Amino acid sequence: MREIRWGIVGLGNIARKFATDLALVPNCCLQAVASSSASRSETFAVDFGAKSSYSDYESLFSDPDVDVVYIASLHPLHHSLSIAALQHGKGVLCEKPMGINSREVKEIRAVAQEHSAFLMEALWTRFNPAFEQVVKWVAEGKIGKIRYINASFSFNGLDRGEESRLFNLEKAGGSLLDIGIYPLFLAYQLMGNPNSILASAVVSQQGVDEQLAFILSYTKSQALLYSSFTHDEDMRATICGEEGEIYMNSRWHETPNIKLLRQGKEDNPIFEFVGRGYSYEIEEVNRCLREQRIESPKWTTKNSLELSELMDAIRKQIGVRYSADL
Ligand SMILES: NC(=O)c1ccc[n+]([C@@H]2O[C@H](COP(=O)([O-])OP(=O)(O)OC[C@H]3O[C@@H](n4cnc5c(N)ncnc54)[C@H](OP(=O)(O)O)[C@@H]3O)[C@@H](O)[C@H]2O)c1
Repeated sequence: MREIRWGIVGLGNIARKFATDLALVPNCCLQAVASSSASRSETFAVDFGAKSSYSDYESLFSDPDVDVVYIASLHPLHHSLSIAALQHGKGVLCEKPMGINSREVKEIRAVAQEHSAFLMEALWTRFNPAFEQVVKWVAEGKIGKIRYINASFSFNGLDRGEESRLFNLEKAGGSLLDIGIYPLFLAYQLMGNPNSILASAVVSQQGVDEQLAFILSYTKSQALLYSSFTHDEDMRATICGEEGEIYMNSRWHETPNIKLLRQGKEDNPIFEFVGRGYSYEIEEVNRCLREQRIESPKWTTKNSLELSELMDAIRKQIGVRYSADL
């Protein structure tokens, strides 16, 4: 089986978790890493066994031994770094959100298509085995027509301060783009585009949504969704249909533990959970590259674009604007 050679750019918090899981996946390797800091790059390469380390991103994009690049930098850099990697013919797995807004996602998508290069947003929950089972149950009609979804994503990040990427406007802070994207993705994945959206937020002095509630309305169905950086919460998700219910245990976006209730019976499977849960999206990218696909059929770039359009619509209602929107 062909070995897939990965590069990682932007060597912060998530890059370290991702590299830990990459080492658990067979038939792939960490070929190269790049950071704006030479010492961070060298340390990361030693810690995770990367064959090359660079102190500029361009050198990694030009490395002929790299097949696919994981973009793990801050939100505002996803657009330029994804485009640069794709223009070098590299495949790209870009952290969520793929772009700050739908214009950025459209532009990244166009470059991927022009270069026939693989592109996927790192919405890792989509590939976790328990979530795959939820998608299957819904598609098989196990709970009938979905009437109600309730999901949230919150944690207390107040101690991180205004300069942190969570709260800083220049870093495209705010809960929607960072974590509200998960409950939004859940409703979109299971019910598609809504007919309308109603959003209400607590917006900080800097102008980012610290706390956000939003309702997606469908024909005879609603999704009540929420995200926040201002408090901790036991994160569960509930999906109710006319013929049954699905419960995703805490923390639902990464849980191996889900429950189906229907006709008085309970199905409570517990799935495997390798590493921190990033191995499943890595396996999906590896599979797509081996099959010479330029998209994953499970999470397409059209899906990413539609998700970004929904986030644009929510931000318009709550008045959160970034420099990329101007
Ligand atoms: N999938 C998940 O579970 C998950 C979890 C957390 C975060 N994320 C996503 O991953 C991305 C990174 O989050 P993180 O928590 O890893 O961020 P982070 O640790 O704060 O920073 C990641 C990298 O971004 C670059 N960076 C940081 N501050 C910068 C600045 N002021 N100017 C330019 N570059 C800067 C640095 O890259 P260099 O090393 O090159 O200097 C840094 O190592 C976000 O887009 C987030 O949405 C995903």
